Order: sequence, then structure tokens, then C-alpha cells
Amino acid sequence: MSTNKEAWGSRIGLILAMAGNAVGLGNFLRFPVQAVQNGGGAFIIPYLVCFVLMGIPILWIEWSMGRFGGKGGNHSTPFILDTMGKARFWKYFGVFGIFTNIAVASYYCYIESWTMSYVFHSISGTFTGMEQGAVADFFNTYLTIGKSTTGIPYEAVVFYVICLALNTYILSRGLKGVERAAKIGVPMLLIFGAFLAFRGLTLGTDGASAMHPDSNAWDGLNFLWTPQFDSLSNPTVWLAAAGQMFFTLSVGMGTVHCYASYIKSKDDIALNAVSAGFMNEFVEVVLGSLIVIPIAAGYLGIDWVKENAGFGMAFQTMPYLFDQWGSVISNLAGVFWFGLLFFAGITSSLAMGTPWMGFMQDEFSFSRKSAAWSFGLIILMFGLPTVLIYQVATNGVVDQIFFNEYDYWAGTMSLVVFATAEAVLFAWIFGMKRGWAELLSGSDMKVPVFFKYVMMYVTPLLLMAVFFGSLFLPQGGDWASAFSGLFSGNGWQLDNNSIILMLQNTGLKETMAAASNPEEIA
Ligand code: PHE
Ligand code: NA
Repeated sequence: MSTNKEAWGSRIGLILAMAGNAVGLGNFLRFPVQAVQNGGGAFIIPYLVCFVLMGIPILWIEWSMGRFGGKGGNHSTPFILDTMGKARFWKYFGVFGIFTNIAVASYYCYIESWTMSYVFHSISGTFTGMEQGAVADFFNTYLTIGKSTTGIPYEAVVFYVICLALNTYILSRGLKGVERAAKIGVPMLLIFGAFLAFRGLTLGTDGASAMHPDSNAWDGLNFLWTPQFDSLSNPTVWLAAAGQMFFTLSVGMGTVHCYASYIKSKDDIALNAVSAGFMNEFVEVVLGSLIVIPIAAGYLGIDWVKENAGFGMAFQTMPYLFDQWGSVISNLAGVFWFGLLFFAGITSSLAMGTPWMGFMQDEFSFSRKSAAWSFGLIILMFGLPTVLIYQVATNGVVDQIFFNEYDYWAGTMSLVVFATAEAVLFAWIFGMKRGWAELLSGSDMKVPVFFKYVMMYVTPLLLMAVFFGSLFLPQGGDWASAFSGLFSGNGWQLDNNSIILMLQNTGLKETMAAASNPEEIA
């Protein structure tokens, strides 16, 4: 319980803040990569099904929980969950909703700081006339602590600290600061995104003759958008789709609860939740798929994209491709692209800061300023190892292994576990009758009754399927042979990425070993 009486200034402010929370680096860096790695059009159907059967219901659950908890003056998941379930367990479980944020924010803000630095380098024309390999190398040099690409030593650390300071400053202005950042950031990223998406759509075969004889931007779009129905029976694709859905909607982490706890008790949540959710999906499936993939396919060919799809593309390849557009346009494109990523990133990292702020203010009566500063310092402390690990590796490959590992635990698995628990809490412990009434109170839309049953049965069951699926992920994601192996008495062969094997574990150890010996996996 607290004396904190902050509330959102306006409905548009709330929707933009929630949309800004959801729209993030995940829409532009994670979605295209997940889609390509899971077969393009094969990914899209499970992904959209997950939106309807898990995404929307969980958004409604989290918005309802948040507004409900906020009525009692609670602004973070330990206390919000505590108001909904009597058992002490829930209060402690809610602590997840603080720590996952810290864990994710510490690497998320690091990537955000790269986007800042790349805006700077795009303006100053660093990439002008560089070879493709040199642009890629630039990234690795940038990440090497102590090195400098601008004359500032320790450049990556300096930008990281600037980025954290900016986050801290905005957070210290309270909800108003967050709301203002969203009102600037979200429209800006939409404008920048529209410009780049237009370019992606109209690029066609422009780049072809120069670089790759039969490259065509449309191949990228066709690859992403030609649905392949046989993927529906592939659990690995479903796992990836569900994981992306969670990450992109920012659910399962406590940020949505926290934002919703500042909604006035009589205001709508049903329609607002859907609006913010759809806005995120629009940015993801439309803008997110019209930029990196088609532009890269337009110059380098779709086969190159399939082989090289990865997180590094955004930093290692895009500046080089923009450079093909001629001096002013290419610098501008760089500013738009990294500026877009920056705005997308900061409106999300601010969201990761607010549960901590709420918790410190409610529980320890911290002032807004001290709460914000304590967040900045904690992220700096947790984030520095990330920065250091990056620099141990000089070839970028190890970085991505580390990231995948970290992203998997902090950014996917814990979200699924948290979301499963809260779906059960909401529908079965708080009770669906009360839950449904809570959602409908003040509602500006008719919520189809269908969703009541989805929330009770489908969402929790799907979530558990996702959880157990990743626990027992068979070798190579090949479920059919795993089952036939089981029935013919050969046991179940676990994949290295199954949680069970990861716990036993190879994953981190290998990463560390590889980090000290980069050539081995290069
Ligand atoms: N949804 C954000 C993105 O797509 C990431 C995020 C996750 C933000 C959880 C806040 C909380 O990048
Ligand atoms: Na998102």
C-alpha cells in the first residue's frame, strides 16, 4: 500500500505508453529472425493463432490484475498478486515480476545503447563508402572495450552509461516522464518505420545487378508471407511462435500490470488492451517484416538471408546496404533505422524500470528520484558483465551464443512460467466470475463470451504445453522420431536446447569455453 497517487494523464497517453512498452527491439530485431529461422511462412500461422489464444487473453488478464491491484495502491506484481490470491506463495512468486525486468533490462539497455551510438555514426557518415566486411568488423571493434571508433575510449561503455542515465532521468520524472517519452517516441518510430518500409516495398530488383544477379526484395516478402500449413504440426515452430508472442507483447514480466495499476478504477481496460496489442502486432508484422528482410533480400538474395538471419544483421549489414542509396539518403536511412530502434527500445526499457520503481516506492517509501537512481545503478551493475562478455569475444559469434542463452532464460522461459501461473491465478483462484466482471467493468467494448472459456481452459493448457514442450524438446526438434524412438524402446533423445539438458548443463559452460577460445567455433 502506498501514498503514490500517480495516474495516466490521458487515454491516448496510456495507449501510447502501453504500445511503447510492447513495441520494442523485439519487433524489429527478434521477429524477422524468428520468422526466417522457423521457415518464414511456416511461422506466421502458429504466430497469429498464439496472438488470439494466448496474447489477447493474457493481455486482458494482466490489465485486469493491474487495475485491480492499483485500486488498493499496489504498483508491482508482488503486491498485485497478493491482492488476488490468499496464499503467501503469490506474493513471493510476484517477485519474479521484478527480477525478470532487471535481468532483461540489463542486456536490453546495452543493445539500446548501440542504437544510440549508431545514430551518431550514421550522422557523422562513418559508414560512407565502407566495404561490407568493414561495416561488419566495425561492430566488433565497437564492442571491444578500450577501443574507440570516435576518439572516445571505452566508447561502448560510455554509450551504455549515457543510455542508462537517460532512462534514469526519464523515470525520475515519474509517470509523466514515461508518458511524454511515449508520446514522442511512438509517433517518431512509426514515421521512420513507414519511410523504411516504403523503401523495402519498392526496392524490387534495384540492388540486383550491382551485387547479386538474381536478388529481389519481393523474395523476402514471399518467403515471410506464403503460409505453409504443414508447420501446424511442428511443436518447435509453435514454441518459437509462442515465445515471440510473449516477448513482443511484454507479457509475463509485470510491466503491463504495473502500467495498468495507474489506470483509474472506472476507466476502460478491455478496449485499451486490445488497441495497444493490435498496435504492437501492426508494427511487428507490417513494419517489422518490411524492412530488414526485403532490403537484405533485395541486395544479397534470399538464400543469403536464410543463411545469415541473425540478430547482427541490423548492425552489421544494414548500414552497408543503406550506403548503396547515395550520400544524403543513406545517412538519413541510417538515422531513421537506428533512431527507430532507439525509440522502440527506450519506450520498452522504461517499462522494465517501472515495476522496480513501484516496488521501491510502495514497500520502502523511496522517493521517485531515489527509486529511479537505484534502478539505474542496479542495471549498471548487472549489465556490466554483459558488456564484458561481449568484449571477451572478438568475432561476434560467441556474442550471439551468449545472447541466445540469456535471452532464452530471462526473455522467454521465465515469461512463459510467469504467464502460466497468473492465468491459473486469475481464472481459478481469483475466480473466472470475478475476473470476467473485473475485465468488463468500465469496458468500452463487448468482449465475446468465447474468451471467457479461452481464458479458463485454452490459455492455461496451451501455456503448459509450451512449457512442457520446451522441457522435453527432442533432439533436433524432431518430435516424430522422438515418439517413435520412445515406442520402440530407445528412449527419448533430448535436444541440447531442452530445458532438462540445459539445466544439467552444457549451455553456459560451452559458451564460456568458446568465449575463451573464439577461433574454435568461428
Ligand atoms: N516487448 C518488448 C519488445 O518487443 C520487450 C519487452 C519485454 C519490454 C518485456 C518490456 C517487458 O522488444
Ligand atoms: Na513488441
